Amino acid sequence: MTGFMGSGKTTIGRSLAKLLNRGFYDLDVEIERREGCSISQIFSEKGEDYFRSLETSLLEEVTKTKGQIVALGGGTSVRFRNIRLLLQHGARVIWLDVSAEKVYDRLKDDQTRPLLFGISEAEKKERIRWLLSERAPLYQKVACQIEDVNIMEAEEKAIELANRFREETKENLKWKVWVINGPNLNFLGIREPEIYGTQTYTALVQYVKEEGRKLGIEVRCLQSNWEGQLIDWLQEAYGEKVDAIVINPGALTHYSYSLRDAISSIQIPSIEVHLSEIHERDAFRHISVTEDVCIDQVCGLGFRSYQVALQKIFDFLQKNS
Ligand code: DQA
Repeated sequence: MTGFMGSGKTTIGRSLAKLLNRGFYDLDVEIERREGCSISQIFSEKGEDYFRSLETSLLEEVTKTKGQIVALGGGTSVRFRNIRLLLQHGARVIWLDVSAEKVYDRLKDDQTRPLLFGISEAEKKERIRWLLSERAPLYQKVACQIEDVNIMEAEEKAIELANRFREETKENLKWKVWVINGPNLNFLGIREPEIYGTQTYTALVQYVKEEGRKLGIEVRCLQSNWEGQLIDWLQEAYGEKVDAIVINPGALTHYSYSLRDAISSIQIPSIEVHLSEIHERDAFRHISVTEDVCIDQVCGLGFRSYQVALQKIFDFLQKNS
């Protein structure tokens, strides 16, 4: 998120990150944390140049990471080196375009903005107008999306951006994969945490969807404690032309011939997954009756078993399409 001070980079960015379940990073806040003092102090004690070089080295770090929402500082895009970093790393920069009048309204009583310190109200208005006219072309240059933030409330804008983003990325998802979980997996976080961990089924769903999205896979997560329901979903997947299945049949793995028949009849590439290492547990868990109708089996990696399965599915689909 780029834009002038007071445009809502932090508020909108933080809400957007929450809505999209992404990490959020605020350059100014991080600089303050690392330096152990406020931006105003850094400006007055060490000067703007010192602050700008901290900002650039932080941006170098941040642009190496992926998938986070980052609130840039109001002056970040002023430096050519920063613009280059953002463009080079393919950052999707959103310019929150705000008018000088709106900025003045929002910031007139804010004591934390060093560029507006110790000047009269008239001078503040003039400085905002001047700085904004100087920076606007630079924001525009670096941005691939411009958002008018004069009218909507920050939260409303974040919801609009999140919805638009979801729509777009959905179109980019190339493969349709159903992740089917069997009996007792809804009890993750409650059942035997020493074996299955403390994270809940909801956390698993979020994790799997996010990992899928990274690979361009649209994931639908389903869970039932009923064998027949799992079979119905497998047959439905056939009708829906789902590209692949990831299935954790729970205990049904070890004895359900009807589930095995369902997997083998739909002829959709399927991978069996288990959170735990079934081969090192009770003897009855060493046998899987579904394993050999699946293209692979991944177990013992906790949540990561699902990620590895999705990666294998991705490789398989890329090779066979
Ligand atoms: C499980 C292993 C099964 O043996 C067990 O019955 C489960 C979970 C796993 O994910 O580790 O319910 O499939």
